[in-house]
Amino acid sequence: MRVKDRVAVVTGSGRGIGETTVHRLSEEGAMVVVTDINEKGAIKVANDIKARGGKAVAVKTDITKIAEVEALMEMAVKEFGRLDILVNNAGFNRDMLVKDMTEKDWDDVIDTDLKGAFLCAKFASKYMVEQKYGKIVNLSSRAWHGNPGQANYSSAKAGIIGLTKSLAWELGRYNINVNAIAPGMISTELVQSHPKFEMIKERMLANQPIKRIGETIDVANTILFLVSDESSFISAEVIHVSGGRFG
Ligand SMILES: NC(=O)c1ccc[n+]([C@@H]2O[C@H](COP(=O)([O-])OP(=O)(O)OC[C@H]3O[C@@H](n4cnc5c(N)ncnc54)[C@H](O)[C@@H]3O)[C@@H](O)[C@H]2O)c1
Repeated sequence: MRVKDRVAVVTGSGRGIGETTVHRLSEEGAMVVVTDINEKGAIKVANDIKARGGKAVAVKTDITKIAEVEALMEMAVKEFGRLDILVNNAGFNRDMLVKDMTEKDWDDVIDTDLKGAFLCAKFASKYMVEQKYGKIVNLSSRAWHGNPGQANYSSAKAGIIGLTKSLAWELGRYNINVNAIAPGMISTELVQSHPKFEMIKERMLANQPIKRIGETIDVANTILFLVSDESSFISAEVIHVSGGRFG
């Protein structure tokens, strides 16, 4: 078991990459806090884990709300006694050209995809510093390199890399590793519901050494590696899980 008895909070784990991640962490012995703005999704995933013999609790949290984030981390420690792993996974995109993008389109994406990760790291790291142990993984995206129609999302995901590297410096002395993952196109509801999904997929496959779309397990396995002690000398790193595609 690679994360036996570790306590993990994974944001946005009511579906998609986060859902696969909490299952994978649970299979490897972690106790998981399944948290999502979508309470139904979180409860379903936590129940699935418990039905397989794992330890899980579901919590509704909007990661853009500071009081909710603070309460989430407090609750994780109350429930399971410590907090070892934070995966900042919750996020979404709202794609359009800058000329059409409203201030709200910009703020909403930055608030969830960047500020939410900052708030979660701020309150989770308090406990990790006390324990002198912790692992933080932040979900960036291959889009951090820049994409037409994704100025808000690309900016948030590039910001995640700055956040990751700053946190790695601030927290390393407390035995806390902080890394980012930049997935390419992964087969989730978020991606498949994109109106230009087929067109984007064709373009992606033409520009990618590995000729397939990614699966949530590709990302979950990389997260598992980064939150296990197998990677304890890796910090401030960005791992692309993108079939070899960068730009
Ligand atoms: N799927 C991809 O191809 C892909 C590629 C690169 C990066 N990513 C990133 O990976 C992460 C997960 O993506 P996914 O494809 O699994 O998405 P998804 O939409 O399937 O899941 C995201 C989850 O986050 C939750 N969420 C949204 N806003 C929230 C908030 N304010 N507070 C709490 N929860 C909130 C949603 O309810 C949802 O359950 C995101 O950060 C995304 O940007 C995904």
